[in-house]
Amino acid sequence: MTEILKADPDAIARAAALLLDGKLVAFGTETVYGLGALATSNTAVAHIFAAKNRPRFNPLISHFARTEAAFAHVEPTELAYRLAEKFWPGPLTMILPRKSGSTICDLATAGLPTVALRVPRGKTALALLEAVGQPVAAPSANPSGRVSPSDAFHVLRNMHGRIDAILDSGPCSVGLESTVIDLSREVPFLLRPGGITLEQLESVCGTIRNPDDYATKLPSSPGMLASHYAPGLPVRLNAESVSENEALLAFGDTLPGAGLVYNLSETGDLEEAAARLFAGLRFLDGEGQRRGLQTIAAMPVPRHGLGLAILDRLRRAASPRPVAGGDDDDLESMI
Ligand code: TXA
Ligand code: MG
Repeated sequence: MTEILKADPDAIARAAALLLDGKLVAFGTETVYGLGALATSNTAVAHIFAAKNRPRFNPLISHFARTEAAFAHVEPTELAYRLAEKFWPGPLTMILPRKSGSTICDLATAGLPTVALRVPRGKTALALLEAVGQPVAAPSANPSGRVSPSDAFHVLRNMHGRIDAILDSGPCSVGLESTVIDLSREVPFLLRPGGITLEQLESVCGTIRNPDDYATKLPSSPGMLASHYAPGLPVRLNAESVSENEALLAFGDTLPGAGLVYNLSETGDLEEAAARLFAGLRFLDGEGQRRGLQTIAAMPVPRHGLGLAILDRLRRAASPRPVAGGDDDDLESMI
């Protein structure tokens, strides 16, 4: 049974108690819903990997209510302090060398000498983390390889019965995952574009290494597999025309002739588009399959600001799948 908790102080206290008891609780952050477990417990974290069907070599982000609590687990650099000052709480994840004596368990870090840290901005998430008072490991609350959840309904649909509770704080304001920056190398390295833009990071870091062609390079982060965020229908990128057997993920002025349309932002606003991306993919996938459509065609999005993160997710959604795409609920068919 999965308890559904509407975010209020009692629900937050209940969710915190469940987490402290080693249970799995999905909770809303400003980016996407996370599937939380106590990061200090290998047993609790093992439940995350099982519920998501996630490969165990893929490490998890540990979440905290405050910067000092997060940095107690790592060797923070001067740049890490500056980034925390500017972007935490917020959609930025920093990878830093793990401090010996950190209580974050090996399963959460996949045995790596580094740890991924984030202080989210969501009010409910912060209250929950404060109440737990321990690091909370949380990947996005979707089956591995599938579209991330930006609403409690998405979590419910994919994870009901597989997790102990969902703390429902409504739709996520940013709508796609945090930016992941690796600060454990000589130069900062952007591992995943996300809610903090490259331009914002560069204003604090100066030069950042940014492997632009993620889809063709070897993954530089264990979780950056080429195929990810995959809906059941195949995705076609950079659509400049569309046919009636296709569903169209539009941006700005839509194209004529599609069998079904979801516009990320009619006015071409990238923030709005980011917030609507995962809901749009889910809608076109579900409704498109019901109508017998063959493909999701995605219109081009500008390559700056949040556009980079949107394009990254779309490229992964369009990548060849290791296993044929199936229904979202068909957990057995997923890697
Ligand atoms: O917005 C977010 O970041 C959401 C919310 C719930 O906080 N979480 C999230 O987690 O997206 P997940 O597990 O879906 O993505 C975390 C990414 C993965 O690509 C993982 O491989 C990478 O961060 N990562 C975690 N620890 C790492 C490490 N030590 N070194 C390199 N990459 C790491
Ligand atoms: Mg994820």
